[in-house]
Amino acid sequence: MTARSAERAGCPGWRGTPLLAFEHPNAPTCRAASRSDLSAIHALEVAEYGDASYPYFALRQLFELDGANWTVAEEAGEVCGYVLASLRADRTAWLLAVAVAARCRSRGYGRALLETALAQCRRAHVVLVRLTVDPANATAYRLYKEAGFVLERHEPDYFGPHEPRDVLVHRIYH
Ligand SMILES: CC(C)(COP(=O)(O)OP(=O)(O)OC[C@H]1O[C@@H](n2cnc3c(N)ncnc32)[C@H](O)[C@@H]1OP(=O)(O)O)[C@@H](O)C(=O)NCCC(=O)NCCS
Repeated sequence: MTARSAERAGCPGWRGTPLLAFEHPNAPTCRAASRSDLSAIHALEVAEYGDASYPYFALRQLFELDGANWTVAEEAGEVCGYVLASLRADRTAWLLAVAVAARCRSRGYGRALLETALAQCRRAHVVLVRLTVDPANATAYRLYKEAGFVLERHEPDYFGPHEPRDVLVHRIYH
């Protein structure tokens, strides 16, 4: 699937009210990201990560490399979440960022985005998916563990002294 195809699909992990989309205009949908989504993705990045967010120019350049594998979630036509996946030739992948706008949290968007990215990896015959998480981020940690990610390594000073990250890995069996 290319980014420009902007294929729309129901979010597989959504657990909201089980009505059809035409009956519930605010039902979440996931679709491939397009270049025109970069501003919205950047705004969410800044809102969530502040100084640690990807600058717009970095997102723009990453989009050239991996944008075809990025997914956004929408509510009422507005981007409210994203997962930035990077698939490599060695059949591994990284999920570089996952975020959901504060107003849409705890309604299944995060899980839906994650499951969409994992399904995409499976279709591309990826065997290992990695991501990183702040060990103190209990919400994200729980989401990832429930999706089958396990700890691969703890890096205590990755972002500087006492600024750790955990690398989690999810194995896909084909
Ligand atoms: C982490 C994040 C993406 C989850 O998105 P979300 O849409 O709220 O998640 P969902 O509603 O799909 O919930 C999925 C799971 O996440 C966990 N979760 C969600 N909200 C939670 C909360 N308030 N407390 C604890 N766990 C929570 C649960 O495991 C939940 O599954 P469950 O409902 O079966 O228990 C979102 O909180 C977020 O964007 N946080 C800020 C950015 C961030 O931390 N990104 C990850 C960086 S590694």
